[in-house]
Amino acid sequence: MEKRVYIFTGVPGVGKTSAAVRLAERLDASYVNLSTLVIEKNLYSSKDEANDAFEVDVEKAHPVIKHLIESSNRTLVIDGHLASDIVDRESASLVFVLRRAPWILKSELEVRGYSKEKVRENIEAELIGVCLTDAIRVFGANRVCEIDTTSKSIDMIVEEALSMIHGERRCLSSVVDWLALADPEWLRSI
Ligand SMILES: Nc1ncnc2c1ncn2[C@@H]1O[C@H](COP(=O)(O)OP(=O)(O)O)[C@@H](O)[C@H]1O
Ligand SMILES: [Mg+2]
Repeated sequence: MEKRVYIFTGVPGVGKTSAAVRLAERLDASYVNLSTLVIEKNLYSSKDEANDAFEVDVEKAHPVIKHLIESSNRTLVIDGHLASDIVDRESASLVFVLRRAPWILKSELEVRGYSKEKVRENIEAELIGVCLTDAIRVFGANRVCEIDTTSKSIDMIVEEALSMIHGERRCLSSVVDWLALADPEWLRSI
């Protein structure tokens, strides 16, 4: 089969890594974690150890990812919200944007031990769909597939991605509107 490149993006805690690793197994593809790659290959401009955050150096990272994609003869499953910043528009076959209800995501991020500000920042980004907007801007709406992962098992998420890959299910990028679904009380509390 022809080599493909599938991307998983979305805010932390939506299920990217769990789903991407499993999809790679199912497709017999190589799994690439962008955060790990950026750290291991020093592709960042600054690092905030305390917050476990880093600023990716797009100028440095872009050619490294490009080379990695071009030199692979296997299908790749790329995991990371940084994808929209550093992966070429033409490289991606499909981009899966995982979405998860912010009111559920909140406890996931708190369990991870994220600071109050970091939880809030990510919850707000998910609420208004920052990763989705970025993905559509970079890769175009035709190749962006939104998957609502709320109340789904990782296997269900992977099956949904596979059915989009195989063209059995339409790839849509206007599935989720958390602002419309959110309890006004909850919105006031964040
Ligand atoms: N839709 C989901 N339903 C149940 N648990 C989930 C879901 N998405 C993620 N998880 C769990 O949340 C944690 C974070 O998932 P992970 O794959 O690391 O997300 P990400 O890579 O997007 O940060 C894991 O323990 C995972 O099993
Ligand atoms: Mg992850």
